[in-house]
Amino acid sequence: MNKRSIKKANNAKKKDLEKFAQKLQEQIMEQIKQRYTQTVIDFWQNPKNFRKIDSPDGYASVKGSCGDTMEMFLKMKDKKIFECTFNTDGCGTTLACGSAATELAKNKSFTQALASVGTDSILKKLGGLPEEDVHCAQLAAETLRRALADQLYQKQNPWKKQYRKA
Ligand code: FES
Repeated sequence: MNKRSIKKANNAKKKDLEKFAQKLQEQIMEQIKQRYTQTVIDFWQNPKNFRKIDSPDGYASVKGSCGDTMEMFLKMKDKKIFECTFNTDGCGTTLACGSAATELAKNKSFTQALASVGTDSILKKLGGLPEEDVHCAQLAAETLRRALADQLYQKQNPWKKQYRKA
């Protein structure tokens, strides 16, 4: 084999590999579409409110049953949740659940958020999740509940804010 034919063979191999990778990616995407709603996929690819907030009015960090952690940050204004954000080291479903929970909590009062944002409303906003992923919604709901509780605690004990980590 001369240099030219070796180069040609290598290029053909490279093209085959690229085709294979693209086909694999399409197959994975197809499987994801069969399992998850478009809303879950959208939040997964473009998470909402996925950031930390400095000196939040309410904060919680919760480790889920799967070992993933979610953090939530609240900022209050005029007795309403002005900002609600999250951070996680979890999977795509966790990103979708954190996005849904924070979107649902925004602009609600403490009581409204506590009463209406839970596992069921997160699942409803996402159009449902496979049974084995429901714990991701439970993690988001629990983190929000604890961040709300922390907000109440901070309001009652404002002097403790300076000793907080978040
Ligand atoms: Fe761990 Fe989703 S897999 S919270």
